[in-house]
Amino acid sequence: MKGELALVTGGAGFIGSHLVRALTAQGARVRILDNFSSGSRTNLSGMEHSLEVQEGDIRNAIACRNACRGVQYVFHLAAYISVPGSIQDPVTADSVNIGGTLNLLMAARDCRVRRFVFSSSAAVYGETGTTPIPETTLPRPLSPYGVEKLYGEHMARLYHALHGLETVCLRYFNVYGPGQNPASEYAAVIPRFIAMLLEGKTPTIFGDGEQTRDFLFVEDVACANLRAAQAQGVAGEVFNVASGVSTSLNALYDALKRGTGFRKKALRGPERPGDIRHSCADTTRAREMLGFTPQFDLAAGLARTIAYYRERAGVRASPAGR
Ligand SMILES: NC(=O)c1ccc[n+]([C@@H]2O[C@H](COP(=O)([O-])OP(=O)(O)OC[C@H]3O[C@@H](n4cnc5c(N)ncnc54)[C@H](O)[C@@H]3O)[C@@H](O)[C@H]2O)c1
Repeated sequence: MKGELALVTGGAGFIGSHLVRALTAQGARVRILDNFSSGSRTNLSGMEHSLEVQEGDIRNAIACRNACRGVQYVFHLAAYISVPGSIQDPVTADSVNIGGTLNLLMAARDCRVRRFVFSSSAAVYGETGTTPIPETTLPRPLSPYGVEKLYGEHMARLYHALHGLETVCLRYFNVYGPGQNPASEYAAVIPRFIAMLLEGKTPTIFGDGEQTRDFLFVEDVACANLRAAQAQGVAGEVFNVASGVSTSLNALYDALKRGTGFRKKALRGPERPGDIRHSCADTTRAREMLGFTPQFDLAAGLARTIAYYRERAGVRASPAGR
């Protein structure tokens, strides 16, 4: 990838900024298309000089075309990412996740991009009733967000079949790591819990805590994207990107207590309606076809994540904002 130009949509976001860092480390030149709705320039600090940032919206076809010009690789991460938000406002979610993705596929085809890597989600599966979940499981999304990601996958596959654009879709499970926003209304469990524990607040676990998730450290997700851009014989395919390890919320909470030194038991709340009980990926395809194996287990990933939030809490607490 050395010297080649990669476009990262949503490059100022949580996962996008880690991918930008990984691409830069490979010697790639990086262009970002982002409207900064949830991403921020702070996520890109230290890299500004080596990046081209185009502030724009993927709903704008011209912005997408300009962003794809001269590009060898497109990593499409920009999205309306809130599952509950997509239920409340499916029109906006559709316009970004369907309209925006279509704009980018058309622009990538017309600009003769070599490979298009699409960030999809485990949300396409819905409640499968079995784990681990292979990619062949019939998708039955439970939200507009999941339906929109499935649309993106099918369009990506079609653009390969109809137009020869090499597309690869990655279904991320629960991604965590430095830079994830703990403050939003719909924040993911790991940053939310870490932020609370570091402030000495006791979080609430809903239900019996034996529901399970498949957590993957964000630097591994960046690595999976690099593999997807370069592996041979994978165009038109879809892959789970996950650890393949099932972790209950109770076990996660214990690990977070160990990592932060917090001692209190979690508060308990009622089971939340619509919560998926078990989610864990079958990672065989990604391992065999992309050569992707995660490098961080949960303890190592959490240690880095906790260190990041600890440092930030220290910075915020310093009197002159230093
Ligand atoms: N975080 C997870 O656990 C997870 C799981 C599955 C899939 N994903 C997918 O990974 C991708 C990245 O997610 P993230 O967690 O880094 O979220 P994020 O909100 O941090 O990043 C999304 C980025 O896209 C930008 N963006 C949003 N709408 C845009 C628009 N209309 N035009 C241009 N830019 C726009 C935002 O400003 C932000 O920088 C998304 O496609 C998301 O659906 C994430």
